[in-house]
Amino acid sequence: MKEIRKAEMILEKDYRISEVDPRLYGSFVEHLGRAVYGGIYEPDHPTADEEGFRGDVASLVKELQIPIVRYPGGNFVSGYNWEDGVGPKHERPRRTELAWRTIETNEVGTNEFASWAKKVNTEVMMAINLGTRGVDAARNFIEYCNHPGGSYYSDLRISHGYKEPHNFKLWCLGNEMDGPWQIGAKTAYEYGRLALESAKVMRGIDPSIELVACGSSGRGMPTFAEWEATVLDLTYDEVDYVSLHTYYGNRDQDTANFLASSLDMDQFIHSVIAICDYVKAKKKSNKEIHLSFDEWNVWFHSNEADRKIEPWSIAPPQLEDIYTLEDALLVGSMLMSLLRRADRVKIACQAQLVNVIAPIMTETGGAAWRQTIFYPFMHASLFGRGTVLQPVITSDRYDSKDFTDVPYLDSIAVLNEAEDELTVFAVNRNLEGGLDFACHLRGFEGFQIVEHITLTHDDLKATNTAMQPENVVPKANGNAQLEVGQIRARLPRASWNVIRLAKGK
Ligand code: AHR
Repeated sequence: MKEIRKAEMILEKDYRISEVDPRLYGSFVEHLGRAVYGGIYEPDHPTADEEGFRGDVASLVKELQIPIVRYPGGNFVSGYNWEDGVGPKHERPRRTELAWRTIETNEVGTNEFASWAKKVNTEVMMAINLGTRGVDAARNFIEYCNHPGGSYYSDLRISHGYKEPHNFKLWCLGNEMDGPWQIGAKTAYEYGRLALESAKVMRGIDPSIELVACGSSGRGMPTFAEWEATVLDLTYDEVDYVSLHTYYGNRDQDTANFLASSLDMDQFIHSVIAICDYVKAKKKSNKEIHLSFDEWNVWFHSNEADRKIEPWSIAPPQLEDIYTLEDALLVGSMLMSLLRRADRVKIACQAQLVNVIAPIMTETGGAAWRQTIFYPFMHASLFGRGTVLQPVITSDRYDSKDFTDVPYLDSIAVLNEAEDELTVFAVNRNLEGGLDFACHLRGFEGFQIVEHITLTHDDLKATNTAMQPENVVPKANGNAQLEVGQIRARLPRASWNVIRLAKGK
């Protein structure tokens, strides 16, 4: 007998959390595995354009409507010499790449990536190397990228065929500098000082930029909290954001527990906000630091395979997670965790975009397709722009190995006032049956249901592959109905739901 659970939600038009910064729907491309080579770039591919970028991949990227893409790493950036990736391609060095133990050919570098970003209608969130390098490389690099001309590095860019400056406006001050695996890892004090001095010279060249300081590489790091407090204490006046990174995996095959992992993400965000505000209070500052959740996703499927990869190969298939339906559900919940704190989380990058723990997969020389996790991201990016409403939720709950009182319903709603559209996102975490959902609407007279999209499958482990690219796809087959100011629906067992309403349409 299938066990039906129940949940109710109240949405009041004037009870709001915040406007959504569109950069919440950012992504990430690192020089890692087949993300660049065989992913976005493959000159011999039948769909490649004149610069070698895959057209099939670019079309899928455009479907996601991504406003920013973080580049070039990740761990890669901490050993990267930006000079290796500019100028004539035949003169670029092949390097041993120590973060992932591969050979980097440098065929793609800053200018090519900027050009690709334009083609897919996105902005670059650029990262500098604070592992093996520092203040000097930082000032030269930003001069190369953002200065109009008339100086050594800006003229060098022009001589490379890029007359107009790239004007990258958002910069990461290194990557995961607290992690012992990071090339040139540092203590919080060492990193904070270096980040501060790098920020000063970068703003000296271009005062209009925004800067992200490295927070901890995860909530479980032994230095978590102390790291953020020390780094922000040192850099407060020069930075705008602090970064957060998290990945979850269903390693013990405990799906109920896995689907509850977004509660950990909520707690992580809550804690980092508290630390930012502690430093603000200590400094008696009026400035508020915002959060850049610039790496988040499910990552565990490929761990075993990655241990077997031969070192020093070019673009090997690293971190190639094949995602299941249940992964897509957690990705949906993680997106809702970001929206729930849209008042402070202004930037987020799903890690990553193509092939490497990614919503888009390719075969080198072959097809490109959408993984299961493509869909919740796409729905949130398309329909989750506007104002996040503050819901009041009552739901049946369960306990799992690591979490207590986990609501079967995870939900949030976004109002797009310009378009008179309301979208309710919801995950049913019930693995035994449906969830009877009633959503009381207040202040939404004249709104009608446009569609109720569901993403689900009988098999929680169902995936999309090159042979079966449409095994797990969203369908507009949900049964949501509007009855006297209430949305009523039965959300299918283990499902992602998008209930779209609009006024007068
Ligand atoms: O996204 C994969 C890796 O995860 C990134 O390179 C690193 O920053 C993180 O540890």
